[in-house]
Amino acid sequence: MASQLILLVFPLALFCPLSTSSSDGLWAGSCLAVETAGDVLTSPDGTFNAGFHPVGQNAYSFAIWFNKPSCGANNCTIVWMANRDQPVNGRGSKLCILKSGNLVLNDAGSIPVWETKTVSQSPTHLKLADGGNLILRNFEGLILWQSYNSPTDTLLPLQPFNENSKLISSRSQGNYSSGYFQLYFDTDNVLSLMYKGPEFSSVYWPSPWLLSWEAGRSTFNNSKIAILDSLGNFSSTDNFTFLSADYGSKISRMLKIDFDGNIRLYSLKEDGETWVVSWQAFPQPCMVHGCCGPNSICIYIPNFGRKCSCIPGYKMKNHTDWSLGCEPEFHLSCNQTEVGFLKLRHVEFYGYDFNMYPNVTLEDCKKMCSQMCDCKGFQYRFIKAHESDGIYCYPKTQLLNGHRPPNFNADLYVKVPKATVSVYSDTSQDFELQCSNQVQQLERKYSKIRENESLKFALWVACAVGGLAFLTIFLVWCFLIRTNGNSSPKEGYLLAPTGFRKFTYAELKKATNNFSEEIGKGAVGIVYKATLSDGRVAAIKRLIDANQGEAEFLAEVNTIGKLNHMNLIEMWGYCAEGKHRLLVYEYMEHGSLAENLSFKALDWKERFEIAVGTARGLAYLHEECLEWVLHCDIKPQNILIDSKYQPKVSDFGLSWMLNRGDVKYSKFSRIRGTRGYMAPEWVFNLPITSKVDVYSYGIVLLELVTGRSPAMGIQVTDNESPKEERRTLVAWVREHMARAKETETWKHEITDPKLEGIYDGAEMLILVTVALRCVQEEKDARPTMGEVVEILLRHESH
Ligand SMILES: *[C@@H]1O[C@H](CO)[C@@H](O)[C@H](O)[C@H]1NC(C)=O
Ligand SMILES: *[C@@H]1O[C@H](CO)[C@@H](O)[C@H](O)[C@H]1NC(C)=O
Ligand SMILES: *[C@@H]1O[C@H](CO)[C@@H](O)[C@H](O)[C@H]1NC(C)=O
Ligand SMILES: *[C@@H]1O[C@H](CO)[C@@H](O)[C@H](O)[C@H]1NC(C)=O
Ligand SMILES: *[C@@H]1O[C@H](CO)[C@@H](O)[C@H](O)[C@H]1NC(C)=O
Ligand SMILES: *[C@@H]1O[C@H](CO)[C@@H](O)[C@H](O)[C@H]1NC(C)=O
Ligand SMILES: *[C@@H]1O[C@H](CO)[C@@H](O)[C@H](O)[C@H]1NC(C)=O
Ligand SMILES: *[C@@H]1O[C@H](CO)[C@@H](O)[C@H](O)[C@H]1NC(C)=O
Repeated sequence: MASQLILLVFPLALFCPLSTSSSDGLWAGSCLAVETAGDVLTSPDGTFNAGFHPVGQNAYSFAIWFNKPSCGANNCTIVWMANRDQPVNGRGSKLCILKSGNLVLNDAGSIPVWETKTVSQSPTHLKLADGGNLILRNFEGLILWQSYNSPTDTLLPLQPFNENSKLISSRSQGNYSSGYFQLYFDTDNVLSLMYKGPEFSSVYWPSPWLLSWEAGRSTFNNSKIAILDSLGNFSSTDNFTFLSADYGSKISRMLKIDFDGNIRLYSLKEDGETWVVSWQAFPQPCMVHGCCGPNSICIYIPNFGRKCSCIPGYKMKNHTDWSLGCEPEFHLSCNQTEVGFLKLRHVEFYGYDFNMYPNVTLEDCKKMCSQMCDCKGFQYRFIKAHESDGIYCYPKTQLLNGHRPPNFNADLYVKVPKATVSVYSDTSQDFELQCSNQVQQLERKYSKIRENESLKFALWVACAVGGLAFLTIFLVWCFLIRTNGNSSPKEGYLLAPTGFRKFTYAELKKATNNFSEEIGKGAVGIVYKATLSDGRVAAIKRLIDANQGEAEFLAEVNTIGKLNHMNLIEMWGYCAEGKHRLLVYEYMEHGSLAENLSFKALDWKERFEIAVGTARGLAYLHEECLEWVLHCDIKPQNILIDSKYQPKVSDFGLSWMLNRGDVKYSKFSRIRGTRGYMAPEWVFNLPITSKVDVYSYGIVLLELVTGRSPAMGIQVTDNESPKEERRTLVAWVREHMARAKETETWKHEITDPKLEGIYDGAEMLILVTVALRCVQEEKDARPTMGEVVEILLRHESH
């Protein structure tokens, strides 16, 4: 039947070759011309177009793009390109199916720049299918060539990714030519990301310091196939899988390796006009190698991108190029009595270790590094690894790949001349230039940002240096592994395996002794203490009004369960059975900040640590995770305290989970949060952004300092008028602060009496200043949590 139809159509096609916009496709002997605007192929459902797309001045590429979001000349969502590296002229260029069966793209003057090299005895036919696949078939319907088999930087749902596929990033935003990052199956059958520059290459995902199984990958299945299904489930034969955050809905999606080296899954929002990120490989962009040069720290700033900054005592080597990194401002003597160390908190420099020394005291580690002339500093950290727990000292020959990983609770010590330790210990020098064109907006709006030629070059060089660096690390590391024969402490560099799992209801019922010991009650559920079968003590939250389907619940729990930060409470698992929805968390012996503030005397140092830790946890939620992980109910009751008086934020992700769809489009139907901690946006029905959490955090800071609850209001007796009034906590602190110029006693007047006057005046000033900035009415005037962390870490006085 079908062949009869083709037989009918075929002679017609011969007589009137198609050359206009068509979803019928193109027959052998016909062409699409670059000059004719209507010469595009459209998929039957209208989702995709294929045709010539401008990529520069008078430069065109043959491409496939989404028709929605509606696009003009330079804002189309392109998913495939035939000639990304060799654009053709805007006049005289053509894509033609030759009678021989070859599909050829000719530049002006009939110079072929791209071809499928297909041969067919029978006439061939080119058609754009619904999924965005451009297919060349012979007359019998056999597929000769398809664009799905040669992707550029994007993978569409149901497009198989296999051994021969490779996604290669664009050079930059707006320049579609091949960049330096690629996704591929390596020879061990593992789906990997690699930086591949002109001179060096290095794999950066899965984390190179992990063995495949440690990264959750399997090397056994050599069929090497990965696919994203139409509901948002990505799975690969190396056992790597993820679910899109909006898993379950059939919407437009695309998996793309972005020009910044990250892979992201984009979903088209319901409005059909904006792409949002629904999954990404790297929550922390500074993990992608090759941005900042030696002796500098990569930091990620929301709405801006990555930045580099020199470590104290170092200055930028070349003011036009961050990839060259920083050089010392001092001359370092080889005489060990003349050197000292500066501590950089939570900073990690990866690789370049001389060796690793277990169970060494800080003093011995300093001594060791002082004695080695080439030692630039050392990493000193506690590592929890099976059978080899301990403190490890890693003296370093080079300080490269510096950044502040969210889970990193260890310090880096930089070697500087002893005489100048005090000079450099003021680390408040500001972060300078931006390091590259790798700007990706946190808003995850898929917006285009113009880039700059010289920065492009900088990136190129940065990557080259990064590659060399990596090669060296790898060699050094291999050497160390061989000589040491003991790799386990390296495992400490990974997150402890979370053991995140599903529990049965019966199991949890037993663990909580039939839900007998209630330890807390919140807006979303009741919390019970439990002892799991393996002996661990857990806190089990039973959600009150979770009436969503199991698949949706699972997708969200998976998202939340994967968040891993030392200042976020850890989720061990969940239970979804029938109507029951329960979450299993680690249990915090010391209870909440609220309890600690009212019953115990937290000293100043503990309070400051709690302020910093809480900010780090929230910054991670807001800035390094996907956009909708707002907390929306920050208050001392939701900040738990561990045995070392480190704070752990709890209950994150729940407001989203219980109001799916609402939060995503920042239209909350009901007011959430707790009186006293709620930002004005709630009251005035303004858009809800991460700044609502910043506001609540500011109030918590004031409470930490003053020991007064914001819900109560504060009774004041004004000097001028003897009438008694009630003030809000914020107004009360602002008034005292305003008097600061006249008198220094304000600090004493507002501090928590439980502190008995023992506090650090400078830290106190910074906490109050930050708090008041956080509680400004205008949300845009408030800092981001990331900025808060930077400010607090900079001013921490030790
Ligand atoms: C894109 O980058 C490549 C390589 O740097 C360069 O040759 C090309 O001219 C750029 N294209 C555009 C349109 O800027
Ligand atoms: C793209 O540009 C066209 C016209 O230039 C405009 O109508 C459309 O709204 C733009 N789309 C986006 C997503 O900016
Ligand atoms: C794949 O992952 C699942 C769960 O994450 C695990 O149970 C299974 O053993 C893994 N398979 C292989 C071959 O590693
Ligand atoms: C490898 O993966 C494919 C596709 O998922 C599957 O059909 C096959 O059974 C797997 N092979 C082995 C040995 O696990
Ligand atoms: C996702 O796909 C994989 C492979 O087909 C399957 O094993 C897994 O159960 C799917 N996950 C969900 C939640 O459907
Ligand atoms: C910095 O680098 C640029 C470009 O590589 C070079 O032209 C310039 O001379 C360098 N400046 C210094 C001070 O080395
Ligand atoms: C190292 O410096 C100390 C004091 O600065 C000095 O006394 C000592 O002689 C020096 N040692 C060497 C080997 O130069
Ligand atoms: C370090 O010391 C601890 C406590 O003494 C011990 O348990 C551990 O095994 C030691 N680690 C190594 C690598 O020697």
